[in-house]
Amino acid sequence: MVDTDEFIDEATTEIREALGEENAIIALSGGVDSSVAAALAYRAVGDQLTPVYVDTGLMRKGETDQIRETFAYMDSLRVVDARERFLDALGGVTDPEEKRHVIGEQFIREFEREARDTDAAHLVQGTIYPDRIESEGNIKSHHNVGGLPEAIDFDGIVEPVRDLYKDEVREVARALDLDEVVSERMPFPGPGLAVRVLGEVTAEKLDVARHACHVVEEEVAAHDPWQAFAAVIGKGTGVKGDNRVHGWIVSVRSVESRDGMTARAQDLPWETLQRIQSRITGENENVARVVYDVTHKPPATIEYE
Ligand code: XMP
Repeated sequence: MVDTDEFIDEATTEIREALGEENAIIALSGGVDSSVAAALAYRAVGDQLTPVYVDTGLMRKGETDQIRETFAYMDSLRVVDARERFLDALGGVTDPEEKRHVIGEQFIREFEREARDTDAAHLVQGTIYPDRIESEGNIKSHHNVGGLPEAIDFDGIVEPVRDLYKDEVREVARALDLDEVVSERMPFPGPGLAVRVLGEVTAEKLDVARHACHVVEEEVAAHDPWQAFAAVIGKGTGVKGDNRVHGWIVSVRSVESRDGMTARAQDLPWETLQRIQSRITGENENVARVVYDVTHKPPATIEYE
């Protein structure tokens, strides 16, 4: 474990020295890593930093409002509504890596415009240690690690939490007094709900996944998972009222892990699983079936794509 006060001092000094009088920009994802990197950088250089949050429409329920609230104290915060542009760009795309690529490209376009607009010479990133390892191993292309630095010509990249594991980042978040919703929030993949709807991304599938993920997060919170969520994995037959329906199949996943590199499917109580099932099918008329994923990582990955 790191000494958080010492870490915060060193990180802010490092950021201040790296930036000098120049401007920097950071992409906020809603997750704890970029939030901590942003809070550190803001502490170091104030409004020389522009935090940019791109609302891709692939985010969790309430995430955009949460960002506005948590970072309201940063006058330079920018929230970009790019929902339609992302959905358009993803039209017809079904391959998981292609989805990541399209999202990464669109994100770069959005971010490039903001960087130009704010005259940012430096990029601050919330890359953490396991991101670097998985990217080097090329298990999946993590768009929040690659992409931006190559596509946009910054004078320097600052990665203040690059040597930390997730649990250490959370400790720093608590020491920085970040909102609990942020410091304790489960990890969420950069491509967001796009990799939690199998096949083509549509507004309807995203709505089902967003609602189901929210239910799972609420119902499983007491069991303290590393990550718990739901994915829309296909369509199947069900009966609702007196009618047969062809509705969505939602798969629920809840795993224990330290760093996401390996994981164990959680042994959740039957009552919890049934409550999740009943809420997801009851609160969304287009869901016909809910299943629970019992696969560890390996052989499965945590996300479905
Ligand atoms: P997997 O699915 O590879 O996930 O077992 C391991 C951890 O990484 C997250 N994940 C991603 N994060 N961009 C990200 O920033 C991605 O493309 C991506 N894919 C997976 C996943 O949620 C888990 O925490």
